[in-house]
Amino acid sequence: ICLMRRLRNLHPGRKFGLKLRSSSTSATGTLPETKCNYEDFIDNRQQQAKCSILVQVSSERSYPELYNYCSRFGSIVNAHHYCLRHDDELNYILLEYAREEEASAAIDAGGVTDEMSGTPVRSPFLWFRASTGKKKESISSSTMPHPGLLSIDGCRPIGQENLLSLLRKAENIDRQIVELHQNSQLNDLGVRMRFLAALQIQQSISGMFPSAQAVPFGSSVNGFGKMGCDLDLILRFDKERGAKNHQQTEPSRLIYHLKENLSNGRSQTQRQMESIGDLLHLFLPGVCHVRRILQARVPIIKYHHEHLNLEVDLSMSNLSGFYMSELLYMFGELDTRVRPLTFTIRRWAQSCGLTNPSPGRWISNFSLSCLVIFFLQQLRQPILPSIGSLVKAADADDFRVTEDGINCTFVRDLERLNFQSRNTSKLSELLLQFFEFYSQFDFHNRAISLNEARSLAKPDHSAIYIVNPLEQLLNVSKNVSLEECERLRIEVRNAAWLLESEVENSSSVKEGNEHPETIWGLLNLFKHPEKTIVRPNMFFKPRMVEVSDLFENGMSPTGTPPAGVTYKNP
Ligand code: GTP
Ligand code: MG
Repeated sequence: ICLMRRLRNLHPGRKFGLKLRSSSTSATGTLPETKCNYEDFIDNRQQQAKCSILVQVSSERSYPELYNYCSRFGSIVNAHHYCLRHDDELNYILLEYAREEEASAAIDAGGVTDEMSGTPVRSPFLWFRASTGKKKESISSSTMPHPGLLSIDGCRPIGQENLLSLLRKAENIDRQIVELHQNSQLNDLGVRMRFLAALQIQQSISGMFPSAQAVPFGSSVNGFGKMGCDLDLILRFDKERGAKNHQQTEPSRLIYHLKENLSNGRSQTQRQMESIGDLLHLFLPGVCHVRRILQARVPIIKYHHEHLNLEVDLSMSNLSGFYMSELLYMFGELDTRVRPLTFTIRRWAQSCGLTNPSPGRWISNFSLSCLVIFFLQQLRQPILPSIGSLVKAADADDFRVTEDGINCTFVRDLERLNFQSRNTSKLSELLLQFFEFYSQFDFHNRAISLNEARSLAKPDHSAIYIVNPLEQLLNVSKNVSLEECERLRIEVRNAAWLLESEVENSSSVKEGNEHPETIWGLLNLFKHPEKTIVRPNMFFKPRMVEVSDLFENGMSPTGTPPAGVTYKNP
């Protein structure tokens, strides 16, 4: 991908084909052994979405006919199938053309039928009507060679039973961690679907805002996403990502007239988002259950995409969240142990009810990732560098400041960072050390700083204090209550206790896989079935929660409120 980007820069205007590996590669579709720049990754996935269409078909067997029909518009280089209901009722095929113009031609050729009601909208979401029979396809489906469907596993998360069975059969705990990661991470098709959802938003407003960009961030793109994760999207109206504008030599003397701001920035954004919410709700195919949560610190529009089976959170003013995702992505690229370890810890937290898909007074997946990164930074032989050292290594090209003045400058080119860890610990050892480390961490007095890779005196009485890496006066885990912090401490202690003897004897564990039915290794941590644990009443009184309290630090509210919580203000 990086090479292609360089070739494109050297020969603007020329097309260079991109053949990505199928779903067996890493979460982000990049090759695991190469360190890839985040912006290149985003650019290439956006480009891939522009070359793609999503077609609803009656069954997977329609593929040869669809392939033949759609080949008239260009050369199809990739095809993925998925279905959305267990009885295989809703089938979709995602086709990727070699060139953007070919996908556009296919979309332009689309039409409406007399039976349909509604306003016709041009979008990459289509359905394949049965042939009328009079004009049979000139090429029979069997005569034209077509590439096989790449993704047979589609977009469903692996079932709990299958996963546990894989873990039971693994050779040792290290293998279990790798299996867990490989089988639950977001696959290539999942990433493609998310970029297509982003493109749909972008194209729907491109008439009035040709430079607008809808860019995915969060777990969909930072390499920490699992199958079925939500899509966080930011809609940006400025011309270029980052602050590359400063490279422009001679600024134009022709300046756009703008609409005078009728109100202050925040209420202006809220009103604009309201209108965009209406647009999505009224016109965009597949978009349903549109909800506007405009009082949160970061106002968002939530919706469900029924063709992609995807929950989307769309914001317009969370650029620091976008850059934070870039930081997480880079940490994941820096060492191959980071993502499997984080996946395991997130899964453990989920299975003991420390995290919850709904926002609230419990720790979020993002805060958990910060805990893992900090643990890996503070080791005697660090596995990850401090964010401060990434900032130090930055040069002029890395300069980024958000509209609201948050400095997001840090080195983007990992090769320039010159960081090589000498730590050779195995994943199982790191997992145990993680639990031991946080069993003893002084949450009461100390704050966690990823910027400095060390703990600091806590500036306030929050239960857990994780300095927000990009806005260092804020606490990422301000929402966490004292009770939840206490539960975290109890659970990390339990986990350390459960794993201790097994990790110490790990070389002899499961050699020959004699007892695949027994609970061992990671399975000890996941004994609870995957479900939300209802908290004891002492921790969980019915209460009114101000949405803006919960999301003070840019967290996006997801899902419906948990039992016992009513949002005052959504
Ligand atoms: P899941 O949605 O739980 O899979 O994880 P996620 O990483 O996508 O978390 P979430 O949707 O809550 O947030 C999306 C992204 O916003 C995160 O990955 C971060 O990059 C960023 N983010 C979330 N909370 C904060 C915060 O408090 N400060 C900053 N700077 N960024 C945040
Ligand atoms: Mg998310």
